[in-house]
Amino acid sequence: MGKAMASYKLLSELIRKRRSVRSFQQNDVISRHSLGLILEAAKHAPSARNLQPLEFIILKDEKQKERIADACRQNQPKTAPLSILVVGNLELAGKVGEISSHDITTKEKGEKMFIYMDAAAAIQNMLLTATALDIDSLWMSSFDDATITKAANIPKSHIPLAVISFGHRSKQPFSPAKLNIGERTHYDYFSKKEADLAYLETCRQINEPNGELKTI
Ligand SMILES: Cc1cc2nc3c(=O)[nH]c(=O)nc-3n(C[C@H](O)[C@H](O)[C@H](O)COP(=O)(O)O)c2cc1C
Repeated sequence: MGKAMASYKLLSELIRKRRSVRSFQQNDVISRHSLGLILEAAKHAPSARNLQPLEFIILKDEKQKERIADACRQNQPKTAPLSILVVGNLELAGKVGEISSHDITTKEKGEKMFIYMDAAAAIQNMLLTATALDIDSLWMSSFDDATITKAANIPKSHIPLAVISFGHRSKQPFSPAKLNIGERTHYDYFSKKEADLAYLETCRQINEPNGELKTI
């Protein structure tokens, strides 16, 4: 196998191996070394104009983990051995408007679009690095923003973007069906395709708090 194919195979395996895990082992530990590697992966993510408007809050205190879990309406931030709150700096992200040489890159785009894209790129780097280290993870962004903001002392210039929990699975996560990419691929122009929305039923079945599929 050629070098490119070998590295593709490795990456592809990691991408496919990663699953959202919602049941973590008790008395589990994520080492400081692994935490460092996961944070380094966030550092190397692409970022619009390289502004890097993200901050990472490591949740350590049990009471704080409980507050964040309550805000998420699910208990993984409490039950996982490690959780990280990702926070976006709106002021920094908005600066893309002033420093860019053309008028299509606006302050608004920085604040309303690039900041989320930056976060997604950094988070996926973190999740895949965890997978490579045999560490499971869960990305949560459905939370009560006001409660998180208050609990973590987040200033007005910043917004909470995600809580990521890391640990080792205590049971096998389910593998949600993924749509066929051919059905979402277009050439040159957007072409209207008959969407089969039957799979929405399976999206509805995901019981986020306990990580099991609901039978409706
Ligand atoms: C932006 C975003 C927000 C998410 N928020 C939550 C969440 O609040 N709670 C949760 O349990 N899972 C959350 N997830 C995980 C998705 O439910 C999960 O990725 C999806 O069901 C596909 O499963 P997979 O990650 O195993 O491929 C989120 C994922 C993304 C990308």
